[in-house]
Amino acid sequence: MSKAHGIPLSSPDITAAEIQAVVEVMQSGHLSLGPRIPEFESQFRQYLGTREAVAVSSGTAGLHCCLLGLDVGRGDEVITTPFSFIASANSILMTGARPVFVDIDSRTMNMDPEKVSAVITPRTKAILAVEAFGNPASMNDIAAIAARHELPLVEDACEALGSAYKEKKAGTFGRCGVFAFYPNKQITTGEGGMIVTNDRELAETCRSLRNQGRHGGGGWLAHHRLGYNYRLSDIHAAIGVAQMQRLEEIITQRQRVAHQYVQLLLDNPHIVLPTIDKDTAMSWFVFVVRLTDDFTVTDRDAILQQLRKCNIGCSNYFPPIHLQPFYQEEMGYKPGDYPVTEYASDRTVALPFHNHLTANDCEMVVLQLNKAIAQTRGA
Ligand SMILES: Cc1ncc(COP(=O)(O)O)c(C=O)c1O
Repeated sequence: MSKAHGIPLSSPDITAAEIQAVVEVMQSGHLSLGPRIPEFESQFRQYLGTREAVAVSSGTAGLHCCLLGLDVGRGDEVITTPFSFIASANSILMTGARPVFVDIDSRTMNMDPEKVSAVITPRTKAILAVEAFGNPASMNDIAAIAARHELPLVEDACEALGSAYKEKKAGTFGRCGVFAFYPNKQITTGEGGMIVTNDRELAETCRSLRNQGRHGGGGWLAHHRLGYNYRLSDIHAAIGVAQMQRLEEIITQRQRVAHQYVQLLLDNPHIVLPTIDKDTAMSWFVFVVRLTDDFTVTDRDAILQQLRKCNIGCSNYFPPIHLQPFYQEEMGYKPGDYPVTEYASDRTVALPFHNHLTANDCEMVVLQLNKAIAQTRGA
């Protein structure tokens, strides 16, 4: 990959195998509803040990199908985190239900299990928990709370393919789990998603929802419910099959890059590194550091701007969902509602993270990061 234009924030790990897989589908003429979909689904069933896997067109589509399949709709509440990519909360709104946010634990950046029980009401229909940046810590505790209150847990594992907590794989903690395959994810299909579950009925409903409400042997023009076109094409699935065959290799490469950053930043007094619990096997999605308490959001934004000037890709993953203009305007959320999320979110810096990064690249990123930090300190 040419570095002439700098170091991108993300970059998919595509080899000749993925390209050949696409060519084969194109030559077969079977571009949709072909054999690559069941093959891709079977890889997920085997990898995660779930009974069912349902390929869909995106992670958002997967979350939407799961919530609809669990009968979530108007008048219901779904408990979730404000510290995530917007799709996790939007999928709740898409059903007509209301997201009820729970602030995060600043150590894991995931929904704080201790705060969940307090917001459960008779209207609570489900919990939608996210593994922020791929970190599965606390999913065990959230699953236990969900079970105690007899609420289904939808696990948004879109960032966590390959992570595990106490040897239990991300995606398998709840009633169902959802993965996403946008090009910055551990594996990509361009766009795509996968639902996994042990619940046969839920999987059947999701299959119907993804395919315009068609059902089993009911025929192509018989529609049994309001459905969607959330199908994944065979072209996309073929990329996924090739990527899944390389999953361990891809995860190992990502670990190498994360390890390089950790070594370079371990003693940096201005940086808080991600906290990884000893029981966690981390499949790295992004590498997000936090600036220490003495930095303001203005400092952080200046650092991002400086890195971009040096052609180093970076981002403020994630602005709090409740402070997105749409959420503030339509639902009345305001700054101060979820202080732990807001505090953490003001100080995050996502560094370039992908398998093409060499040790030299990581050194260059950290050198420029240190320079940018020094500038905010007036040095
Ligand atoms: C936590 C989380 N949830 C949901 C999604 C939505 O996935 P997609 O972009 O495939 O719809 C993403 C990915 O971008 C995500 O990171």
